[in-house]
Amino acid sequence: SIELRSLHKDPAACEGQTVSVNGWVRTVRDSKVFAFIELADGTAFRPVQLVLDKNETEDFDRWVKLKLGSAITATGRVVLTPEAKQPYEIKVERIELVGDCDAAYPLQKKRHTPEYLRTIAHLRPRTNLFQAVFRIRSLAAYALHRFFQERGFIYVQTPLITASDCEGAGEMFQVTTLDLKNVPMDKGEVDFGKDFFGKPANLTVSGQLNAESFCLAFKNVYTFGPTFRAENSNTPRHAAEFWMLEPEIAFADLSDNMDLAEDMTKYVLTYLLEHARDDLTFLNQFVDKGLIQRVEALAGSEFVRITYTEAIERLQKSGASFQFPTAWGEELQTEHERYLTEKIFHGPVFVTDYPKDVKAFYMRVNDDGKTVAAMDMLVPGVGELIGGSQREERLDVLLARMKEMGLEEAPYWWYLDLRKYGGTPHAGFGIGFDRLVMYVTGVTNIRDVLPFPRTAKSAEF
Ligand code: 4AD
Ligand code: MG
Repeated sequence: SIELRSLHKDPAACEGQTVSVNGWVRTVRDSKVFAFIELADGTAFRPVQLVLDKNETEDFDRWVKLKLGSAITATGRVVLTPEAKQPYEIKVERIELVGDCDAAYPLQKKRHTPEYLRTIAHLRPRTNLFQAVFRIRSLAAYALHRFFQERGFIYVQTPLITASDCEGAGEMFQVTTLDLKNVPMDKGEVDFGKDFFGKPANLTVSGQLNAESFCLAFKNVYTFGPTFRAENSNTPRHAAEFWMLEPEIAFADLSDNMDLAEDMTKYVLTYLLEHARDDLTFLNQFVDKGLIQRVEALAGSEFVRITYTEAIERLQKSGASFQFPTAWGEELQTEHERYLTEKIFHGPVFVTDYPKDVKAFYMRVNDDGKTVAAMDMLVPGVGELIGGSQREERLDVLLARMKEMGLEEAPYWWYLDLRKYGGTPHAGFGIGFDRLVMYVTGVTNIRDVLPFPRTAKSAEF
């Protein structure tokens, strides 16, 4: 059998040949002598049109009654159709039913809301929308790896089970041991209280601290994997399990860090414009009319860089009324972030040098003693896409700051070692991968870019 992605690429190469294609039936239309089946195989955005002819197709009467969603193998001749919407079709000689589909199949031919499709997360990958989104998601991950690998970064797989709280926000899921062998489930006495072999452990909120250790050995590294946050925020931008890519670079400062973030973002967007054109065109048509134009403009623009203090001034001068008032010292809320990118700068913005009180302990304290060398990259529609900083490499300053924030030193002993043994200025950031996918697909809810979203209210599937 042949995959549609190869057939679509060069149908002329197969003209007149007999081919077999495997796939799932999307639609069936029939008239007295002809029937048309749209068959999707998931390897390309467009389905293929199968033409059944009462005089040429075996068991014609049986196949015109094929149920939507059935899995079939169709064998027939490739015919070019330069005048039609689709450049070629397959004149079917015979069909084999591989997997019949129950009539209760929920994906009948009509539009479904994203909310409904979330309740059938196991089937929604078969829809055009999710085919486009998840193909782009896959390609975006590949493009990110390519970007870093081409630049000689080492990919380090940091642990998911850890004892440290990187962000110091206390929003962690605890790891416990279920001792089912000693206390069988049916006795109803399962001990849910055990921890990780006698020690406390949680699911990681970020791989950064471990990445720093590798960075101070390999110079340029990145980690990419799932991260977990127990913040109970039910927003379209937060998930309890999300994917984050975190590069870490040694002998580098905040401005090197922003250069890297900007280059990386443009690289991924350019890569997708080149390699996911069909999917982007579909999303541009059905999800977000300005998508392609926006992504193209961004790939070629220079990102604005302003300090937090300037951002607060700009927001206050704008005269806009916000739900959360702006005041120096307060965290920027999503509404502020979106206002900056959507109403003031009309594009991505790096905001730097936040007040130290709203940022994590590891960020390098600036000379003013009040702010830290942090940077957030904000983008229209999404708000914060990237968060990063230059790291505090001065042991005494780091210790003072941890004390100030009430952090215990003991669990961070190894992290502090890195400041004693050849510590250098270094910096890094984390890009919320799911938010990147939202940004490049125009999809406005994180639940619709995660294959099986885990959010405050849902861990089904
Ligand atoms: O800004 P954050 O919390 O930064 C860190 O975790 C640093 N340790 C990164 C680093 O410097 N290596 O998270 C980074 C990004 C955010 O900008 C956001 O895009 C995403 O991760 N993010 C989330 N995405 C989905 N759901 C959540 N609950 C998220 N929390 C953060
Ligand atoms: Mg952040």
